[in-house]
Amino acid sequence: MDRRDFLEKLISAAAAGIALAACSNTSNAQTINSDDSTKNSDHQKESTKKMKIVVLTGSPRKNGNTNYMADRFIAGAHEAGHEVFRFDCAKKDVSLCIGCNHCNMNGPCIYDDDFTQLRPKLIEADLVAFVSPMYYFGFSAQLKRVIDRFYAINGQIKGGSKKAVFMMAYADTAKSEAEAMTAHYKTMIKYLGWKDAGMVIAPGVWTAGAIKNTKYGDEAYKLGREI
Ligand SMILES: Cc1cc2nc3c(=O)[nH]c(=O)nc-3n(C[C@H](O)[C@H](O)[C@H](O)COP(=O)(O)O)c2cc1C
Repeated sequence: MDRRDFLEKLISAAAAGIALAACSNTSNAQTINSDDSTKNSDHQKESTKKMKIVVLTGSPRKNGNTNYMADRFIAGAHEAGHEVFRFDCAKKDVSLCIGCNHCNMNGPCIYDDDFTQLRPKLIEADLVAFVSPMYYFGFSAQLKRVIDRFYAINGQIKGGSKKAVFMMAYADTAKSEAEAMTAHYKTMIKYLGWKDAGMVIAPGVWTAGAIKNTKYGDEAYKLGREI
């Protein structure tokens, strides 16, 4: 190797070293100022990244509380420049999964219904929002039947870097009443390998539109805006 080759290799090795240090996320990085600024700019890039968002709503009440939360969340997400695909499960023709296993958890489903339009959106989504009223301590059946159809794309949506958010409303005022539904959401996304990006839980709203007199609309907007 002549002197020129040697110098070129040295320069590119040094450049690679700088790049590696910049990408480092180890505890050492926290003690070096230049790495801190890199981390900050990485964080900015992360938080300003435009995402593909799928919003799944579960209420059949058009002017209901969770549809209002979804509206506010979507307004915030649009404000932040994200792309949103809304799927109102209660208005869609989605058959119940019958567990025939034709899809083998990663293939074509025997049904060609409205889930067919949702399927590719879910696969490419960066974030999925689950928005449901509490129906006897769980998700509404309208939303749950759509979640069950995830089975046919399980192999394509599990893992990766997806995020999720959860919004719910219910009539009772006790916070503990929300625990079963929240646990369901958390357990489901843990299984799927998705990261929780926030929740809005609205107790004490019973009649359609009652949520407009609460802080939860603003919370949903903020979640969409800052996601
Ligand atoms: C079938 C059904 C079941 C419900 N189950 C519960 C319940 O278990 N606990 C509760 O606090 N409210 C329950 N509610 C009240 C709703 O959760 C509440 O009215 C909620 O705000 C409805 O949201 P929406 O307006 O988005 O449909 C139920 C309502 C219906 C229609």
